[in-house]
Amino acid sequence: MLCDALGIEAEFASSGTYNLATMTKSKQIHIPTVKSREIWLLYQVLDIKQKMPNQQFSDAEHAEIYSSHRPDIPAEIAEISVDFLKQKFVGALDLAVDVGCGSGQSSVVLSPFFSLVHAIDASEAQIQEARKNRAAANLIYSVQEAETLPFESGSVQLVTAGASLHWFDPKIFFKEVRRVLAPEGVFVTYTYHSLRPSLDCPRLSKEADLVYQTLYSYWPQEVHSSLEKYENICFPFEEVLRIPKIRQKFTGTFSDLIGFVESLSAFQIMKKKDKSKAENLIKVFRKRLEELLMTPNQPSSTAIKLYRDFYCILCRKD
Ligand SMILES: C[S@@+](CC[C@H](N)C(=O)[O-])C[C@H]1O[C@@H](n2cnc3c(N)ncnc32)[C@H](O)[C@@H]1O
Repeated sequence: MLCDALGIEAEFASSGTYNLATMTKSKQIHIPTVKSREIWLLYQVLDIKQKMPNQQFSDAEHAEIYSSHRPDIPAEIAEISVDFLKQKFVGALDLAVDVGCGSGQSSVVLSPFFSLVHAIDASEAQIQEARKNRAAANLIYSVQEAETLPFESGSVQLVTAGASLHWFDPKIFFKEVRRVLAPEGVFVTYTYHSLRPSLDCPRLSKEADLVYQTLYSYWPQEVHSSLEKYENICFPFEEVLRIPKIRQKFTGTFSDLIGFVESLSAFQIMKKKDKSKAENLIKVFRKRLEELLMTPNQPSSTAIKLYRDFYCILCRKD
């Protein structure tokens, strides 16, 4: 089967019909099989909708919370990406591009390996936070859309999209990635869904589970392909390697966990829809954590073992 990202026109031109649910499965749109002219019209409408700028991360307050409470991506992911690249690419590592870089958590980890890292994000607020908090001498941040990568064809050795791919228009984005990548260049994407208390604290884990369950129905449609670990995305590359799980473990604080929850777009959406419900969710969570950790007066500094699971996909262009 041809990939969603590249093969739509060819597939429906040869058959005259196409199942739009298959075509847009990463967007979870379920529309029955229709004739080619109608699907062309529908596809134009969907394209227009998908190209609308993403508003989720445009808010300055959200970007500030995001920057403070999303930990940096584990160095292991950058190492795995560079090792994979070096398996076939033999030239100098001049340029890596991090797309949907947020406030720089996925960009700083690349800077030890490349002469230059160019990190882009559609949100001005996120880029401002990145410049403020995660600067490096060989790291440039700029406001750009994933669908129009401002790089010369064949000039980039590594493109990454950390927890951001699901926000992009996949068809246009993958075409752009293939254009800017050098021969034997690599695209890496990964995602994660939650920060959790260590499994050896089952009561704390249960409280976090309750919070994530409450937020589940607030996830925007785009995030569902991330929640499914990008399993339904067909990556239009010659070599594709999935790494099922990379666990990041660290000792954080009680407020790292609460702040992480507040940084989630599901929580931000809940807050916009019903502020008191969102505030109450955090209040109850905080109280339960205080009770379980028995630290009613100094909760924010209490050390707590945390972990985050990443699902990673490595792709190589011939
Ligand atoms: C969940 S954040 C991930 C940030 C960072 N990569 C990380 O690992 O924490 C997703 C980011 O994608 C950005 N984004 C969404 N749509 C975009 C687009 N079309 N082009 C560029 N960035 C986009 C958002 O502004 C947001 O900062």
